[in-house]
This record gives sequence, C-alpha cells and structure tokens, in this order.
Amino acid sequence: MTDHLTVLVVGATGSIGRHVVATSVAAGHSTRALARNASRARGLDPAAEVVVGDLTDASTLTAAVAGIDAVVFTHGDNSNGEAVNYGAVRNVLQVLDGRPVRIALMTTVGATVRHPSSEWKRRGERLVRASGNRYTIVRPGWFDYNDADQLQVTMRQGDTHQAGNPADGVIARYQIARVLVDSLTDDRADHRTLELVAERGPEQDDLGPVFAVLDPDPTSSLDGVHDEANLPLEEEPERVRDDLDRIRARP
Ligand SMILES: NC(=O)c1ccc[n+]([C@@H]2O[C@H](COP(=O)([O-])OP(=O)(O)OC[C@H]3O[C@@H](n4cnc5c(N)ncnc54)[C@H](OP(=O)(O)O)[C@@H]3O)[C@@H](O)[C@H]2O)c1
Repeated sequence: MTDHLTVLVVGATGSIGRHVVATSVAAGHSTRALARNASRARGLDPAAEVVVGDLTDASTLTAAVAGIDAVVFTHGDNSNGEAVNYGAVRNVLQVLDGRPVRIALMTTVGATVRHPSSEWKRRGERLVRASGNRYTIVRPGWFDYNDADQLQVTMRQGDTHQAGNPADGVIARYQIARVLVDSLTDDRADHRTLELVAERGPEQDDLGPVFAVLDPDPTSSLDGVHDEANLPLEEEPERVRDDLDRIRARP
C-alpha cells in the first residue's frame, strides 16, 4: 500500500477528530473532513477538504466516500448510540458498497461491558470486522487524564479494565489521533483490536513495535481476539443480525 492515502475523517469536528485531521494532513495524506454543518468545520486544518453529510442518513454520504482509500471513525454521541455510534459505521460501509478501504475505528475502553452505550459501539466494531476490510480498532482510555510524564503509548487486549473511571487507563487526545493515523499504513496494525493507554515514560518515536506484539483478531471473528464472549449473536436484535448479513454478503 502506498503511504499517501485519501483519508476520510468521520467525527472530524470532535475533540479527537480535529487532532486526526491535523495528524493526517501532517502525515501527507489527502484529508477529507466530514461535518454535518460546514460552520462546525471552521478551525480545522485548512489543508483538509470539508464535505458535508449526516452520519445518520446514508443517502448524504456519497460525496464523502468518493475515491477514499481509508476512513478514520472518531464520531460519538452516547445519548444516541444506535443512530450515531453504530449507525455511522453501518451507513459508511453501506455507501462504500463493498469497495475496500482501510479502516481505523475509535470506540472506547470498556467496549465489551454489557451496557447500551458500549453495546452499540461494540456492534459497530463487529460490522468493521465482518466487512472484510483491513482495520484497526482502537479503544482509548480516558482522554487527557494523563500526567505530563505519562506518554508511553501502551496497547492492551481483552478489555480487562472495566471500572468506568480513569483507573481503566488514560491517554492524550493527540496520541489517540497518532495511533489511528499511523495504523492506516502499518501492516502490523491490521486486524488488531486494542485498548490504548499511556504509561509513565516518554512517547515512542515509532509505534510499529507496539503494534507488532499484538495478537490479530481471528479470521471471521466478530469480537476482538481476547474479548469476553458475552454478547451472543443469537440474542442480538434482528436488525443488527440483518446488518451483519448484508455487510458480509457484499462482494
Ligand atoms: N472522554 C473520554 O475520556 C472518552 C474515552 C474513551 C472513549 N470516549 C468516546 O469518544 C467518543 C467521541 O469523543 P469526542 O470527545 O471526540 O466527542 P465529541 O467531541 O463530542 O465529537 C463527536 C463527533 O461526532 C459528531 N457527531 C455526533 N453526532 C452526530 C450526528 N448525529 N451526525 C453527524 N456527526 C455527529 C460530532 O459532530 P458535531 O461537531 O457536528 O457535533 C463530532 O464531530 C464518545 O463516544 C466517547 O464515548 C470518550
């Protein structure tokens, strides 16, 4: 894969998305920022192209996905988990209609907790895994709760920290953006699901070795490699199972 990509940033106007836009531009990628309102895109890196679309309405997303090589999802609205957190992933994949793209999806530490807000994020993860695309799923800890000397990028698997507070891990916003953008061009990040936190120590110059020690998700698995199997597919809502069937059936 070439290192120069056309990257769509979903959630580009958000607290992480803004960093992703800047990081993607700095990495030399042609960067497209999806905004539901052009005025919200003011202040984004001027090198980014702004495209207007509504994540909850697939029919508005055609221009956003035209010609992209990769998509970074950083959207979020926990009060609207099905329509936004899950719906954005479903709708973008639907509009891509099976055209392969590299995906980086941000969800959250605690994504496997049985709670409606985490379940809709986890279902979005499942669509990405089922889509047949190359992907990295990044579950960050608490944003910007890190101390100044807490910058060593650390990746865990299995979603083992579920206190629901910063004890689950902390990470700087700009570091989340770096991991998402770096993952797009690093084969060692492909098919990896990881929780992202920072430990005491300096930030690494190269994240490749950090990705390299992760276990890949098993082929055809809907969940992350070491995730607890606590969301049985047969108990999922029919519309969710239908979405998975449609995603898998695409060429
Ligand atoms: N805070 C933490 O420590 C933490 C830790 C782990 C994970 N998370 C998760 O991270 C996610 C995102 O965080 P954030 O701070 O970047 O959130 P944010 O600043 O609120 O950004 C959310 C983005 O999603 C977009 N969006 C929301 N609803 C939309 C809709 N209906 N249509 C189109 N776009 C929509 C927003 O667009 P607009 O600008 O137009 O509103 C914005 O670009 C949240 O779901 C949160 O649960 C947070």
